[in-house]
Amino acid sequence: MLKFKGSLKISGDKSISHRALILAAMSTGKTTISNLLESDDVIRTLKILKQLGIKIIKDGNKWLVYGNGTSGFIEPEESLNCGNSGTTARLMIGAVSSNPISCSFIGDKSLSKRSMSRVTKHLEKIGATVHITNEDYLPLLISGSDQLLPMKHNIQKASAQIKSALILASLNIQGKTKIIENIPTRDHTERLLRYLNVNIKIKKLNKGIKQIELNGPYEIKSKNIEVAGDPSSAAFFIVGALIIPKSKITLKNIMLNPTRVAFLKVLKKMGGKIQVKKTKSVCGEDVGNINVEHSFLKGINISSSQSAFLIDEYPILSIAASQAKGKTFMKGLEELRYKESDRIKSIVFNFRKLGIDILESKDNLIITGKQLNINKTIRIKSFDDHRIAMSFSILNILCNKKLKIDNKKCISISYPDFEKHLNYLT
Ligand code: S3P
Repeated sequence: MLKFKGSLKISGDKSISHRALILAAMSTGKTTISNLLESDDVIRTLKILKQLGIKIIKDGNKWLVYGNGTSGFIEPEESLNCGNSGTTARLMIGAVSSNPISCSFIGDKSLSKRSMSRVTKHLEKIGATVHITNEDYLPLLISGSDQLLPMKHNIQKASAQIKSALILASLNIQGKTKIIENIPTRDHTERLLRYLNVNIKIKKLNKGIKQIELNGPYEIKSKNIEVAGDPSSAAFFIVGALIIPKSKITLKNIMLNPTRVAFLKVLKKMGGKIQVKKTKSVCGEDVGNINVEHSFLKGINISSSQSAFLIDEYPILSIAASQAKGKTFMKGLEELRYKESDRIKSIVFNFRKLGIDILESKDNLIITGKQLNINKTIRIKSFDDHRIAMSFSILNILCNKKLKIDNKKCISISYPDFEKHLNYLT
């Protein structure tokens, strides 16, 4: 059987790549971005920024962005197509809302079924005009204004995208905007703003509630940005190395933001032999190398308090659970229903095909580990969801490539080099 071996530098982080482009566009002056992830989702953001009048050019393996300031977007002539990218849609709706322009946003079939009112309801309260399909979905038309009101927003859902959309809007709102995050989520927007010397105040209120205060409008002076490696992409190979006998790998230049690497703690608790070594800080984010070797995993309880920090890793954690001894309980997975596919359904559907015992009860999953002995071709449905396709591609190594995964092309949404890197490591 193949095994995972060797050492590899993982591609740039998707969340930071979107934010690097948007904040460079909202700065004044030229920003050079290095190690930008050139995935389908990120390219959507890049093209939309160009439609909004931002000059962006590629220079060797770097990108040059000529920012027009926080009030510098011009009205686009055509619809802004976000493709499959929820991050593009939500962040860019926020970013344009405090500019006096009208924009129509469209997306593909999957994105057109994902909630946008979670962002627009906040923006409407402060004065943006939004026409939205069936009260929640793309296509939508937003007419922004440079007179939006500074207000206090209370975000109940665990979503970094909602928070980031409101932060981006407030960069061009006159006065104090307060954003209350009841459930903390990934904090790349806040970190990148601080790196760019933008004065935002972050306060921890009681019970883990966080308050972000901005006092706009801001003028952001451009500063070069380097994008660190994506821990969510690394997670696929980390689990691969853990479950495939005789594996041993090193993944380099991985971003170690605590809101993103909770899956490492989970895998360690399952018995995974994982070592993390911080090497440097890059644009406000810690970065390091991760060593992993094959380990005998055991099932554990993963509490719902962790779910916002594990949101993109549940599919690959399910694969780890399927190869662990005993049962793994995953709780509080509601947000997984609203991703590129209903990821609870996608995991359950494919596990049942493989004869893996999986129980779905409301928003919880219980997975019982099972040694797989696949000797005929089994068709796996990706549901056109990149993280589902990559998760089962990892399990496929253990199944001696007997799994036939449909539409692997969707992997380029977040990790165009995945197949190349998988072949390199196995
Ligand atoms: C992202 C936030 C997460 C995550 C997505 C990227 C971001 O979504 O699932 O892949 O870049 O802010 P939510 O926090 O909205 O659930």
